[in-house]
Amino acid sequence: MISNRFPTVFGVLVALAALGAPANSVEHVVEVPAVPTPGNAAEAAAILGAKLLVCNTCHGADGVPRNTATPVIWGQQESYLLKQLHDFDSGSRESEVMKWMATALTPAEVASAAAYFAKRSWPARTASAASASPPAAVAVCQACHQQNLAGGLPAPRLAGQRYEYLVDAMRRYAEGERTNNPEMMNMMKALSPAEREAMARYISGL
Ligand code: HEC
Ligand code: HEC
Repeated sequence: MISNRFPTVFGVLVALAALGAPANSVEHVVEVPAVPTPGNAAEAAAILGAKLLVCNTCHGADGVPRNTATPVIWGQQESYLLKQLHDFDSGSRESEVMKWMATALTPAEVASAAAYFAKRSWPARTASAASASPPAAVAVCQACHQQNLAGGLPAPRLAGQRYEYLVDAMRRYAEGERTNNPEMMNMMKALSPAEREAMARYISGL
């Protein structure tokens, strides 16, 4: 089922990610079969590598996402990446494009992809964001997102994530569009849009 889906998924993605990777890497992905022959480790590695190139077309070949609605995944917590890929696959976190991506990976590839991106370095911040003074609620966030919101069990890294992505992620929890964590939904409902914007502004500058 996965092998049948991947070419279709890929065709759509090429259109979506037209601004992405060099054409030769894209063609390479198309040629590669989606599921390795059992026991063929070299083939499995080649297929995984080709699929991860597709991730780069949006999440960035250097870890810097191609647009501000796409989150940084390089250097993110491995357990968080794994959970999100499962949630996209099951539909408990809704995203059309990420559902296609997650279902195009075998369970073993999902685990490898999470480990691979977690081991990359979080990209250095390019713009020197105006570092506002921390909003009061930051102390609450640090209880889970850790010191300086750098992430760690149980919560993902937030520091240095893009403003646009953060503010939208927070709005989605608040408005019940992102339902894969009830605690985050409750906390975001308790903040006003202006408070969420201030929080996102501060966090993106960390
Ligand atoms: C066509 C663009 C595109 C491609 C290709 C793509 N992604 Fe994404 N990815 C996104 C967008 C956009 C989001 C944010 C979705 C949302 O919040 O609704 C996202 C979110 C994610 C998240 C959640 C991160 C977070 O901070 O919550 C993970 C993990 C992820 N992608 C992994 C991958 C992997 C692994 C691949 C390759 C197999 C991949 N993505 C390919 C666009 C893409
Ligand atoms: C009780 C622990 C806890 C607290 C407190 C908490 N968070 Fe979270 N947060 C989480 C967990 C766990 C997730 C991952 C949820 C999931 O599986 O999608 C998360 C996810 C997020 C995300 C989505 C990240 C992404 O990459 O998509 C944002 C944004 C966020 N939190 C912001 C905040 C802010 C801002 C505060 C403080 C006002 C806060 N959180 C307080 C546990 C917490």
